[in-house]
Amino acid sequence: MQGSIYTIFSEMVIEKLGISAWNELLDKVKPNSEGIYTNSMQYEDSEIMSFVAELSTLTQIDPPTLVRTFGEYLFIHLLNRSPANLSHIDNLKDFLICIEGVIHKEVKRVYPDSYLPSFKFDEKPNGDLIMFYQSKRKLCHLSEGLISGAAQHFKQAIVIKHPECMHDGAKKCKLVISFKD
Ligand code: HEM
Ligand SMILES: [Zn+2]
Repeated sequence: MQGSIYTIFSEMVIEKLGISAWNELLDKVKPNSEGIYTNSMQYEDSEIMSFVAELSTLTQIDPPTLVRTFGEYLFIHLLNRSPANLSHIDNLKDFLICIEGVIHKEVKRVYPDSYLPSFKFDEKPNGDLIMFYQSKRKLCHLSEGLISGAAQHFKQAIVIKHPECMHDGAKKCKLVISFKD
């Protein structure tokens, strides 16, 4: 996982729980990086998973909830660093549809070592957007949080359902986004 994600994760822990909590996590996880991350470099995925597991023990919050909360926090930080120009997109649905073909595509071009998830879309006649998420990292809860963060950014009320999940043996995660007006 890219260093920028680790940096933003450490900022969240420090902002919400203080520097002592971050130091405690570093003591437990003992990352190869020693907690110093270069934004554009890649680090072992297992490190972020260990941070989440230790943070879960520390806070007594279950890992999916922690990962979702992190996704919500992460969104605006990623948006502010986006290499793709997104200023012409003014609504959540258009934004979500262009994650893969515009945003992540540009990330991959600028950082060829990066690994991005795959999203497939389906739009229902009632306006719901179905997002099929697939990634070796199984970070579907991060997607949920990122989508919630994006919804806040666009001031769009939504409900997210997650009826099929790789963590329960499905090939892809199915996220159903309903837009409320
Ligand atoms: C709602 C919007 C977004 C969703 C749902 C989303 C989804 C995700 C997910 C789930 C991951 C974790 C990797 C994985 O699952 O394998 C990821 C990674 C990443 N995303 Fe997005 N993303 C969003 C917006 C953005 C934006 C605005 C940027 C701006 C640059 C961005 C850049 C990245 C980068 C740099 C990574 C790390 C890649 C790596 O570790 O190599 N994403 N994204
Ligand atoms: Zn899932």
